[in-house]
Amino acid sequence: MTQKDKEEALRLLTEEQLPIVAAASDLHKTAKQVVPGDGNADAEVMFIGEAPGAKEDETGKPFMGAAGKFLNELLGSIGLQREDIFIANCIKHRPPENRDPLPEEITAYAPWLQRQIDIIDPKIIVTLGRFSMEFVLGPGFSISKIHGQAQSIARASLPAGRQVVMPMYHPAAALYSGKLRPVLLADFQKIPKAIELIKNPPKMETSTEGSKEADLQQRLL
Ligand code: URA
Repeated sequence: MTQKDKEEALRLLTEEQLPIVAAASDLHKTAKQVVPGDGNADAEVMFIGEAPGAKEDETGKPFMGAAGKFLNELLGSIGLQREDIFIANCIKHRPPENRDPLPEEITAYAPWLQRQIDIIDPKIIVTLGRFSMEFVLGPGFSISKIHGQAQSIARASLPAGRQVVMPMYHPAAALYSGKLRPVLLADFQKIPKAIELIKNPPKMETSTEGSKEADLQQRLL
């Protein structure tokens, strides 16, 4: 698909999903507007956050508040701008008082996010925080153990070997705990290297999925 086709597919997806999520969840009733996602529909890197907050609810765009400012700084540190990437959230309407999304809300918005991933078809998905990490990788992972480590995708709709997931702490977490700032900065430095490895894969002596992942990890250290 061309970039234009992807933009149109994302627009149609929003139209299609709005009544579906409204029937399954009440979040749209308290939110000012929907925040579907923003950026380059043909991006190599897709970022996934949690849910819109107050600034996002006002503007209709993801990561516009304090966490977004830090995200822009992190992107700048690896030579990327917001226009280069696509950002979406697990949840597209602001939860009241910025509370954590409920499991049934994640489920209600899941097909929307999954289809965004399928349309954009990024080389790398960067998850920000534990909700998007669980969405993409499934349960059973601890962000404190796997942050900054490339994982190959085990989901049927995202063929392993073509797409890679890099789980990161949520930028908002670094606003509360200064210790996480350098961790996020260091983890982000691995993104350009991972893109390069995916675009120009080195010849591998091993071929099983497990050994491919170990090889990728090794090369990203
Ligand atoms: N936090 C998120 O996870 N997403 C946003 O869009 C803003 C803050």
